[in-house]
Amino acid sequence: MGKFYITTPIYYVNAEPHLGHAYTGIAADVLARWHREQGDQTFFLTGTDEHGVKNVRSAQAVGKTTEEFVKIQREKFQALYHTIGISNDAFIYTADQEKHWPGVIKLWQKLTEAGDLYKDIYKGMYCVGHEAFITEKDLVNGVCPDHNQKPEVIEEENYFFQLSKYAGRIRELIEKDEFVIAPVARKNEVLSFLKNDIADISFSRPSKDIPWGVPVPGDPEHTVYVWADALPNYLSALGYGSSDETAFQKFWPADIHLIGKDILRFHAVIWPAMLLSVGLPLPKKLFVHGMILSDGKKMSKTIGNVIHPDEIISEYGVEAFRYFLMREIPFGEDGDFTKTRFSEVYEGNLAHGLGNLVSRTSAMITKSFNGTLTRPSEDALVLVPTKRVLHHEVSAKKVFLEGENLSSYFVREVAVEFDRAMKEHRLTEALTIVSQFYGLLDGYIQDYEPYKLVKLNQEQAGHVLWNVAWHLVRSSALLAPFMPETAKHICDIFGVSTGERENPAFIKISASSALFPSKKKHEQKP
Ligand code: MSP
Repeated sequence: MGKFYITTPIYYVNAEPHLGHAYTGIAADVLARWHREQGDQTFFLTGTDEHGVKNVRSAQAVGKTTEEFVKIQREKFQALYHTIGISNDAFIYTADQEKHWPGVIKLWQKLTEAGDLYKDIYKGMYCVGHEAFITEKDLVNGVCPDHNQKPEVIEEENYFFQLSKYAGRIRELIEKDEFVIAPVARKNEVLSFLKNDIADISFSRPSKDIPWGVPVPGDPEHTVYVWADALPNYLSALGYGSSDETAFQKFWPADIHLIGKDILRFHAVIWPAMLLSVGLPLPKKLFVHGMILSDGKKMSKTIGNVIHPDEIISEYGVEAFRYFLMREIPFGEDGDFTKTRFSEVYEGNLAHGLGNLVSRTSAMITKSFNGTLTRPSEDALVLVPTKRVLHHEVSAKKVFLEGENLSSYFVREVAVEFDRAMKEHRLTEALTIVSQFYGLLDGYIQDYEPYKLVKLNQEQAGHVLWNVAWHLVRSSALLAPFMPETAKHICDIFGVSTGERENPAFIKISASSALFPSKKKHEQKP
């Protein structure tokens, strides 16, 4: 038992929430739920990044105050996260003057005390779309290709942060895995970036241009610049800088910052430099997931391929949505989302896979055993199979004769491997282990044919069905972080409370079993 602090990025509210934002939230949610199950005191943070000139302009465009505009947008992100079952413990937003600003201010003051902030003239090209300065080489025909916009040429006085001073130390910490960056490809990317000369970076903008943000402490002519304002959310959400820093004392450092690879450098270089400067411990791990493409392309309004989670969820439900993202997008790599693939996975793995397995099992128990089974007394009857059965190399009956059993197989091969995968944040593999176990249970039914066996030896048929039902219930504990509602539904169907999953005395069919109705009714077998 320990503590576990996990964060997502805080999202820009200027855009509408989409599939990508849902993805990070779901992955973080899976880890948070799993840690809670392990008994860890868990703090799961998400939120929104609301300062910056873009919001001011968007608000003007729709005739709202900036406060009103960001609130409306924030609520869309909150609504999405509610819909997809995100179990966050807190939601931080940077316009929150009570909760967020004190943290930004304290951190700024500490950076100043450390002598790491200085004023200088900044001259550069600013892309409003990026909320960042860009260079000549980023331009195509004089415009930023991502935003199709000419950058603004800016010459102004800024506060600068002495990032250069910390590059060497950060490199060392990453190399020694004292600050872990995963997957290793991302670690190597940062290490090679750190071989370059690292320049100091601008941490403020003049308030006359950017009035919407946190004023620089003691110098309100300047506004704290986007990243110097956004990154401290990971501290401010814990009360850092407020009159009550208890949560901060308890949960910092973060165990995982989960981010997409688009914001790797900010989190792998600037953030640790800020923390080193003020003498705070670094996050233990930065886990960098890939980007989800839509039909093979980056999602963009212009292409018109942005996927809104509601489109999918209204048809297939939240649980299938969570399943697809965790199973089909290899965690840590880029992945593609297409509706065709979604439908295939839904029909194959869920409707005809898990859903069918649960409904067949419960139907057989209802039909042949009046819906009730009692735990068999003899351990020897806790039947079978192994991977070999799954791979059809040997029939389950044979393995049974060799004396292996399903229960010990589950513990040894499934639960242990699952835990290992989860500890190492191999989420896709963890979920694959559970899915494959369903395949094994299917094979088990095929091998023992309880629907035939029941006529020859009713007691044995009862044992076969007990084993399948019990292991569906048992393995639902593993499924729970990914598909919390489905896991509970499985227990409800077999009439077992979640507390009794490991050792139920009875199975009593108690709920309707349609977990994932097929969407292709005409193709369903009668
Ligand atoms: N506000 C900054 C982050 C500050 S954190 C201190 C920001 N916001 S963002 O709205 O652009 O969100 C970027 C993050 O959203 C990515 O890092 C990722 O977590 C998620 N994603 C956005 N699009 C995505 C995909 N297409 N695929 C996967 N994740 C995506 O950057």
